[in-house]
Amino acid sequence: MNTIANLKKKKSAGEKLTCLTAYDASFAQLLDEAGVEIILVGDSLGMVVQGKETTLPVTVDEMIYHAAAVKSGAPDAFIVVDMPFMSYKSPDDALLNAGNLMKQSGVNMVKLEGGKNQLNTVSKLSDFGIPVCAHLGLLPQSVHKTSGYRVQGKEEGDANVLFDEALSLQKAGADMLVLECVPASLAKRISESLDIPVIGIGAGVDCDGQVLVLYDILAISKGKRPKFSKDFLLGQGSILEALKSYVAAVKAREFPAMEHSF
Ligand code: KIV
Repeated sequence: MNTIANLKKKKSAGEKLTCLTAYDASFAQLLDEAGVEIILVGDSLGMVVQGKETTLPVTVDEMIYHAAAVKSGAPDAFIVVDMPFMSYKSPDDALLNAGNLMKQSGVNMVKLEGGKNQLNTVSKLSDFGIPVCAHLGLLPQSVHKTSGYRVQGKEEGDANVLFDEALSLQKAGADMLVLECVPASLAKRISESLDIPVIGIGAGVDCDGQVLVLYDILAISKGKRPKFSKDFLLGQGSILEALKSYVAAVKAREFPAMEHSF
């Protein structure tokens, strides 16, 4: 069974970590069987399950419903659940909603998007024993503010802000960090500077682990697949084999390749 402690140990030992999203019991069970170490119940479910344009409409109750289903399918897995948009607009809101997510679904960790604006919230959750995965770089819940899904931290000044925020989030009590769509060189610098596992998506091969949206790697997401993802079902005989090939590619540092990175 994976815990924060043994995920950190794997980071120290240089072993790459594998993470994929899941939203129901059947896929969760397959991910677990394939050896995926971290299952993320992402609010990407708003897009890939509910067919919405963005993640913003997803509610806490919907996250609890999907997280509980994932927990039923993979009771021993290390499960992270996204806190939906506006469910952590103050540290007190976050504590209430994260507490309910943990109590009602039985997951291991909550994830929230943001940097310096979330330090007090991360610290409060951590003080109450709730493990937090922070999320920096491209923040899908801020898509309207950023005018689209864009690579973040390309300019030196922006990169330095992200680097400082990553260190501050760890100091505030975050136990894991997702870095989305940032230059590979910046992700490498951040991963090497933090003790907590840094899980990348569109952040290059030097992160401590990789996460992708399950429906993207099975080629069932609507629209064009993002540059940083890959069809792992291609050439495989089953979904289980596709998942195993993702795990093997991440462990061997064969994924992501340069063509999936910025
Ligand atoms: O919601 C999600 O699936 C995510 C990943 C893209 C990291 O946050």
